Amino acid sequence: MHPMLNIATRAAKRAGDIIVRALDQIDYLAIDSKGKNDFVSEVDRAAEQEIIHILRKAYPHHHFLGEEGGRFGNSSEPEFLWIIDPLDGTTNFLHRFPQFAVSIALRYQGQIEQAVVYDPLRQEMFTATRGAGAMLNNRRIRVSKQTTMEGALLGTGFPFKQQQFLDNYLNMFRALFKDSAGIRRAGAAALDLAYVACGRMDGFWEIGLQPWDMAAGVLLIQEAGGIISDFDGNDRYLEIGNIVAGTPKLHAMICRRIEPFVTDELRVPQHAV
Ligand code: IPD
Ligand code: CA
Ligand code: CA
Repeated sequence: MHPMLNIATRAAKRAGDIIVRALDQIDYLAIDSKGKNDFVSEVDRAAEQEIIHILRKAYPHHHFLGEEGGRFGNSSEPEFLWIIDPLDGTTNFLHRFPQFAVSIALRYQGQIEQAVVYDPLRQEMFTATRGAGAMLNNRRIRVSKQTTMEGALLGTGFPFKQQQFLDNYLNMFRALFKDSAGIRRAGAAALDLAYVACGRMDGFWEIGLQPWDMAAGVLLIQEAGGIISDFDGNDRYLEIGNIVAGTPKLHAMICRRIEPFVTDELRVPQHAV
């Protein structure tokens, strides 16, 4: 395993321990709201601090971008940037709904090079290094062989923080709902992308993601033989925040079906990444 990936998996496990231990104390946690339907608990913050502490000890000159404010380094285009979601699926976690994960990605010279998504309840460690394939608990994973919408299991996320896109979203949903075998909304985007990478879902789309929701999942899917893009089929997903992923065939089919509902507001860059 690449040494940087090794350290990232160690950090993800430590964060996972913090999260799982806290499950017993959810009723006593301090919870803040960052915006509409956007919550953060002291567990998110503690997990992020632990991850950054471990990574910084090993790589003191690297830069960090963590969802909960963990930012270190001041260059606008850092050579090494760790992109961290310490707890993806906070709303699930706060409800003891067992679907959440830790997501850590390393971007080097503008490209995601290392990726970890860790589900601490199932102890599933999804990893990827650019050019070396994607793994689940050290065994190689691939996207599914699904080639048709008929029989496909899709994943999605609802735009509950950007409700101005509800109509666009519902039209997309209707266009994909008709022929697919089913659509799941599990509530942790990083894990959704990991599930596409290992073939548990055949395709995925969501409006309004943040870079830390996607960065690790993107590399997992690419290294597992899948395709990922923004709604126009281009690679500006980290900036724009809208994503389509899937097996090569399913990715193309999803893009085609949602295209009529992609308005210009859905093309505006949201993040400087
Ligand atoms: C959220 C989850 C969810 C997605 C949201 C994300 P968080 O991340 O990934 O599935 O629909 O857009 O913000 O806030 O729980 O880290
Ligand atoms: Ca997230
Ligand atoms: Ca989070």
